Amino acid sequence: MGVMGFWTIALALVVNVCMVCDGGTTSLFLREVEKAVDMPLDSDVFAVPSGYNAPQQEFSFLLLFESMSVHITQGDLVGKAVIVSWVTEDEPGSSKVRYWSENSNHKKIAEGKLVTYRFFNYSSGFIHHTTIRNLEYNTKYYYEVGLGNTTRQFWFVTPPEVGPDVPYTFGLIGDLGQTFDSNKTLSHYELNPRKGQTVLFVGDLSYADNYPNHDNVRWDTWGRFTERSVAYQPWIWTAGNHEIDLVPEIGETIPFKPYTHRYHVPYKASQSTAPYWYSVKRASAHIIVLASYSAYGKYTPQYQWLDQELLKVNRTETPWLIVLMHSPWYNSYNYHYMEGESMRVMFEPWFVKHKVDVVFAGHVHAYERTERVSNIAYNIVNRHCTPVKDQSAPVYITIGDGGNIEGLAKNMTEPQPKYSAYREASFGHSIFEIKNRTHAHYSWYRNQDGEAVEADSVWFFNRYWHPVDDSTSHVLH
Ligand SMILES: *[C@@H]1O[C@H](CO)[C@@H](O)[C@H](O)[C@H]1NC(C)=O
Ligand SMILES: *[C@@H]1O[C@H](CO)[C@@H](O)[C@H](O)[C@H]1NC(C)=O
Ligand SMILES: *[C@@H]1O[C@H](CO)[C@@H](O)[C@H](O)[C@H]1NC(C)=O
Ligand SMILES: *[C@@H]1O[C@H](CO)[C@@H](O)[C@H](O)[C@H]1NC(C)=O
Ligand SMILES: *[C@@H]1O[C@H](CO)[C@@H](O)[C@H](O)[C@H]1NC(C)=O
Ligand SMILES: *[C@@H]1O[C@H](CO)[C@@H](O)[C@H](O)[C@H]1NC(C)=O
Ligand SMILES: [Fe+2]
Repeated sequence: MGVMGFWTIALALVVNVCMVCDGGTTSLFLREVEKAVDMPLDSDVFAVPSGYNAPQQEFSFLLLFESMSVHITQGDLVGKAVIVSWVTEDEPGSSKVRYWSENSNHKKIAEGKLVTYRFFNYSSGFIHHTTIRNLEYNTKYYYEVGLGNTTRQFWFVTPPEVGPDVPYTFGLIGDLGQTFDSNKTLSHYELNPRKGQTVLFVGDLSYADNYPNHDNVRWDTWGRFTERSVAYQPWIWTAGNHEIDLVPEIGETIPFKPYTHRYHVPYKASQSTAPYWYSVKRASAHIIVLASYSAYGKYTPQYQWLDQELLKVNRTETPWLIVLMHSPWYNSYNYHYMEGESMRVMFEPWFVKHKVDVVFAGHVHAYERTERVSNIAYNIVNRHCTPVKDQSAPVYITIGDGGNIEGLAKNMTEPQPKYSAYREASFGHSIFEIKNRTHAHYSWYRNQDGEAVEADSVWFFNRYWHPVDDSTSHVLH
């Protein structure tokens, strides 16, 4: 009885203490309050690569530094293809990619396509998108773009074959922008000793729309800024509100124009009919990307797609079910409060039924992690409209703290709601490290700390294989 008895008493004490407190932890971490300022156009991170027609992201008044602006993402459903995208400025050049695996001298060529677009008085460079297919799993590949003119070389590593016990490490970044803080977030991610292998990006990329006429030069600079990571590992894209770029006053009436021309995703591979919602499988994870700014009501294409998609998830093959979206469903800041509510009402019962492990969102420029809660009992008349603890529900994590020009969201609802386990208004990023089919280690890193300091961390127990209570801070009742 001894040990058991002790734990029963300890647990009772914990329960007692928590009966009287409201939510989890509101971090009292103090940081310098500075305005988030965009890096000036002549910053090192925006430098244009040298050489005639060099692959980059447009905007060529600086010709001194070797810099980067190529980006890759997963190119199929299972991780055997990669979409390579880049911009040439002086002339179209070639859309071909030359690639070869580390263990082979046999160089292959993949042919792609190029697109251009105009936005008010801005004309894009030649934007190339080339998909490399039939790659071997778990293999390092080198690739070259800019063939015929200035050729630049990069590399990436393909994921292991999709399967239940494949460890894999994802980075989480959201609402990044291009301020000095954004640069710190990206540097922090790159230097994190847990070594993220793929970034799950939860939307709001460049914040070009904060400039007059949405100056699309800031889309180019963002591409060059992030290239140092995204040319070497895929970033899985989610569309945020700053990708909408709808400005009828200046004749820009097509939503998502810069985003869809610049960032391609493999949406057709998951039978999606639009690039804003889709899924990929990578290692032991099934990742569903949802669109907060596309219709999701009943009968809409996104609704129909998600309905079918959730049936396709096979937890024997991919134990971890991860959802990305931009606008959070559970958010206790006084910014964007309840904006995710209508989508939550539509889809939350499905997430509980299908035991989603974790939902990552952005939009709110701060950090927050919830308990496993759901709020699906409400039927207009029964008054059951409070989140309740639910071990079949996902943990909701807001990671919109990449560091963009709009600054931190510091104003929180008080008291901290019971569903909120930890919240803090600091810039940073997260790592979701899958160990096996039952365990994943999750950690959040604030920019002010050293690269290895976990400001918030928790073990995730898989909802299908190990649905044991993994809550951390308090008990809901
Ligand atoms: C576009 O228009 C703005 C405002 O009229 C002006 O400041 C800018 O120089 C123009 N850009 C180009 C590329 O013409
Ligand atoms: C750049 O490359 C393209 C395609 O290979 C070729 O047609 C063109 O002549 C090249 N331009 C120069 C200046 O080498
Ligand atoms: C951005 O971060 C990189 C890596 O830490 C650093 O080399 C570079 O100087 C920084 N640039 C700016 C403008 O802060
Ligand atoms: C789920 O995946 C496993 C492992 O790949 C496979 O054996 C099984 O047939 C799949 N189940 C369905 C319903 O497709
Ligand atoms: C915080 O947000 C609340 C609700 O929107 C508002 O009433 C309050 O004035 C805000 N406080 C500050 C310090 O901005
Ligand atoms: C899964 O990973 C966890 C954490 O590393 C470990 O404790 C556990 O033993 C592993 N399970 C198996 C079956 O290897
Ligand atoms: Fe946003």
